[in-house]
Amino acid sequence: MEKIKVIVGLGSCGIAAGANKVFDKIEKLKADKNLDFELKKTSCIGMCYREPLVEIVDENGSYTYGEIDEDKACEIIESHVGNNSVIKDYVVTTDKFETIDNKYFEGQVKIALRHCGLIDPENIDEYEAQEGYEGIKKIANNNISATDVIQTILDSGIRGRGGGGFSTGLKWKFANNNKSDEKFIICNADEGDPGAFMDRSVLEGDPHAVLEGMIIGAYAIEAHQGIIYCRAEYPLAIIRLNIAIDQAREKGYLGKNIFGIKGFDFDIFVKEGAGAFVCGEETALIASVEGERGMPRKRPPFPAESGLWQQPTNINNVETFSNIPWIVHHGAKEYSKYGTEKSKGTKVFALTGKINHGGLVEVPMGTTIKEIIYDLGGGIQDGKKFKAVQLGGPSGGCIPANLIDTKVDYESVNATGAIMGSGGMVVMDETTCMVDIARFFLDFTQKESCGKCTFCRIGTKRMLEILTRITEGEGKDGDIEKLEELAYKIKDSSLCGLGQTAPNPVLTTIKYFRSEYEAHIYDKKCPAGSCTRLLTYEVIDKNCTGCTVCAINCPVDAIEGERKGIHHIDQDICIKCGVCYTKCKFDAIKVS
Ligand SMILES: Cc1cc2nc3c(=O)[nH]c(=O)nc-3n(C[C@H](O)[C@H](O)[C@H](O)COP(=O)(O)O)c2cc1C
Ligand code: SF4
Ligand code: SF4
Ligand code: SF4
Repeated sequence: MEKIKVIVGLGSCGIAAGANKVFDKIEKLKADKNLDFELKKTSCIGMCYREPLVEIVDENGSYTYGEIDEDKACEIIESHVGNNSVIKDYVVTTDKFETIDNKYFEGQVKIALRHCGLIDPENIDEYEAQEGYEGIKKIANNNISATDVIQTILDSGIRGRGGGGFSTGLKWKFANNNKSDEKFIICNADEGDPGAFMDRSVLEGDPHAVLEGMIIGAYAIEAHQGIIYCRAEYPLAIIRLNIAIDQAREKGYLGKNIFGIKGFDFDIFVKEGAGAFVCGEETALIASVEGERGMPRKRPPFPAESGLWQQPTNINNVETFSNIPWIVHHGAKEYSKYGTEKSKGTKVFALTGKINHGGLVEVPMGTTIKEIIYDLGGGIQDGKKFKAVQLGGPSGGCIPANLIDTKVDYESVNATGAIMGSGGMVVMDETTCMVDIARFFLDFTQKESCGKCTFCRIGTKRMLEILTRITEGEGKDGDIEKLEELAYKIKDSSLCGLGQTAPNPVLTTIKYFRSEYEAHIYDKKCPAGSCTRLLTYEVIDKNCTGCTVCAINCPVDAIEGERKGIHHIDQDICIKCGVCYTKCKFDAIKVS
């Protein structure tokens, strides 16, 4: 029998939850007790909500234990490894028996995430043992031409996963058509949308898939230099990418005449970005790599014609690249079996917000939002009502509860006014104020605007001021119309995608939740009970003991009352700070 494997999830999510301590504890236990099992590392398997995770693979199968701390780790090693006795209560997923979380993986199809949480991302041999580098080897061994590789990518129907959804095959064709001795292939790993962590997980969990995707892309467009532009806030991803690059170089998979293809010289390096959202825009990214300020420029010329150092350049997203080796290895037909007519394959989503099971999921395009939120994501936290889901980050929009049957494919999502974007899915419940959500995303884009275009620079600031006023109870008649007018002007007059899409969260919330805007402006009420400046704090007479704690702590002396007597709040003085509510031990403060 093979040795039992104990595998600890060491992605950023696991490490943040304490997985390093769990790993160290298991390592020590193994040494101290001279236990005979194989201790291995992997990355995020997708169930971020149950981190830290430890998987045990024995002769019967695989058992993943969740929410493991050092004590639980000792228990499961002693019981499962030592006595061959599975602790069922701690197992969150297995195919051996029913668990609370088995459903999380039902309905998922893993192509981009195929190795994440399965292999040790720091070990090239483990990648190779799972069809790794088979895509490029297939090309080399069968003398498949660049044109045929591009045709395969075209036939697969894959569209770029970075947000725009442009045909990857077509983009490669353009870059191939533009002849030059020097060409570049760039992987866009800038991922800056609030709520998005798909690309980080792929980089941390399967860096060789990204390298192999880039190698195939380089072969197809005849590039010799590859650059991975990764934000410096992703230190683990950068470490693992550099390890992977070194290993690939050692094996001769990067360098000169790689994979035995004469004249195929290709190498990759990582360029760390400073974390400006606009640097994810491809022309700004190129400027940043060249050492300039990351500001977008007018297109055309497109990078495929004149990109980095004015040479033909192809830029793709991390998830796009991670799909490529699978497509080449399994064939375009196999890939295009998944998805809808115009949106092929699968898509990775980062599920966050008021959802029970936040984490990473990969589903075939065309899966409905309802299936993702309820079947995989386990529904809304604390049994609350689902209100909306924000798709596409600051460039996207909010899809309301009555459109929950919307399919996630490019066309269906666009029809709602949101966009597919890169895959951030922020779930909101009845306590979320939609005006405040619009304000949050606009605050983000306003701060991230590079300032080149007047409408983007100043227009978003004016919109933000209006939204802030509304959430503070200072909204005026005509504000909604002013927001709409500004939104369309910003969209029409902005140079790059940041400005062109920045008003989307505002427009979609006005479209679907106009009455919420009106309640803030005309009734000075926040229906979700979330905008603090619109709340009313009152004393519930029958509960008040007259302890005076609220009055002592009120920063503006808005509370009066005698010791042991009922207290009262002067609404004209109260600044709605909530201190009285948190300090009162007798539930005598009502918030409405
Ligand atoms: C403001 C802004 C930020 C962007 N950020 C990213 C990003 O972080 N990652 C990404 O892949 N694409 C991002 N994009 C899209 C890229 O410009 C580009 O379209 C994409 O990398 C192309 O790859 P794909 O065809 O594989 O999607 C951004 C676009 C804009 C306008
Ligand atoms: S739209 Fe905004 S981010 Fe884009 S170039 Fe203009 S000012 Fe800069
Ligand atoms: S803290 Fe509560 S119980 Fe005490 S005086 Fe204030 S309202 Fe009354
Ligand atoms: S909410 Fe703040 S300001 Fe208002 S009464 Fe309570 S403590 Fe005073």
